[in-house]
Amino acid sequence: AEVKKIAVIAGDGIGPEVVNEAIKVLKRVEELYGYRFEFEHGLFGGIAIDEKGTPLPDETLQMCRSADAVLLGAVGGPKWDNNPKELRPETGLLGIRKELGLFSNLRPAVVFDCLIEASTLKREVLEGTDLIVVRELTGGIYFGDKFRREGPGGEEAVDTSVYSVMEVERIVRQAFEIARKRRKKLASVDKANVLETSRLWRETVNRIAPEYPDVELEHILVDNCAMQLLRRPASFDVIVTENMFGDILSDEAAMLTGSIGMLASASLGEGSFGLYEPVHGSAPDIAGKGIANPLATILSAAMMLRYTFNYADAADSIEKAVQDVLNAGHRTADIAVDSSKAISTEQMGSLVAEHMRKV
Ligand code: NAD
Ligand code: IPM
Ligand code: MN
Repeated sequence: AEVKKIAVIAGDGIGPEVVNEAIKVLKRVEELYGYRFEFEHGLFGGIAIDEKGTPLPDETLQMCRSADAVLLGAVGGPKWDNNPKELRPETGLLGIRKELGLFSNLRPAVVFDCLIEASTLKREVLEGTDLIVVRELTGGIYFGDKFRREGPGGEEAVDTSVYSVMEVERIVRQAFEIARKRRKKLASVDKANVLETSRLWRETVNRIAPEYPDVELEHILVDNCAMQLLRRPASFDVIVTENMFGDILSDEAAMLTGSIGMLASASLGEGSFGLYEPVHGSAPDIAGKGIANPLATILSAAMMLRYTFNYADAADSIEKAVQDVLNAGHRTADIAVDSSKAISTEQMGSLVAEHMRKV
């Protein structure tokens, strides 16, 4: 088979720990299916600041550009939190998304029946939950002008949020297309009662909606959505929203599944190229202990196989193996009911690899 180039940027904290397990599973895919991957590693985030003086070195960006897909761990940590903007790991993360044109961030939250007890919510509420957050990733308040100035009340900080019709249209179209292939329900989340960007967002959604008469559309204000996600999560199918609302709602959605350690993501642009990363961060509180849940990263690798490489068979085999391992009762600490029986990051990765079958 054709060799696919995967740029690996593991980053900081638990990033390298969970990425190793995803690579283990991808190597198992090579054995089972005969697909071929070439892994190239690059510095990114805090470690890149320490070694190269910038969170996103040019050579890392070039490596990503010349790859077919990117596998990312996580970045950040207390060591760099008080650095100026250009020397913060998170700036590198925003930079790579922008540079690679990855405006669409897909974050599926699926409740596995055997993990319902791991969630803080009740079984009756969670049963049947299977939703996907489609988060706009390269606009909004993350990327607008930011500055400090003197005001009458002393120093002021300003963040601006900007959205163009083009930016809203392309993400909303993607969300409608995704809804079409699922249960045909789309919830567009905004704050149109207050924000101008949200008013443009809603107008744009309404203008596009007639092109998708088969998709049932609901507009919902973000505060209400945050509440409904806990009250009736199973009623959501596709949720489309702007950058910051999507960031917040997807962490909330993670807790429906039992742990942020379960939530995978794909960041896509116009073509098949994609960046795949867990939704969680570098988890400094557990880094280096070997106890992080690698399933979010492993499931992100499955999304890579599905969306960028079109290897649906291999993606299915990973997702099925994850199900089987969980059904057999194996748990990392974050999803364990009895934490004395929790297994390590490496054990979880190996179990998934061992459970994979050619399907
Ligand atoms: P976090 O997601 O790193 O951690 C939140 C909590 O969830 C912690 O208690 C952590 O131990 C736990 N957790 C996260 N992932 C886990 C996993 N795989 N298994 C088990 N438990 C897990 O969020 P935070 O603490 O707010 O941020 C820590 C750092 O990570 C910050 O510097 C932040 O900027 C950065 N961050 C990076 C990304 C990214 O790289 N994509 C995403 C979010 C946060
Ligand atoms: C995420 C993270 C990032 C974001 C941070 C680390 C910049 O929280 O990927 O969800 O807000 O997008
Ligand atoms: Mn986040």
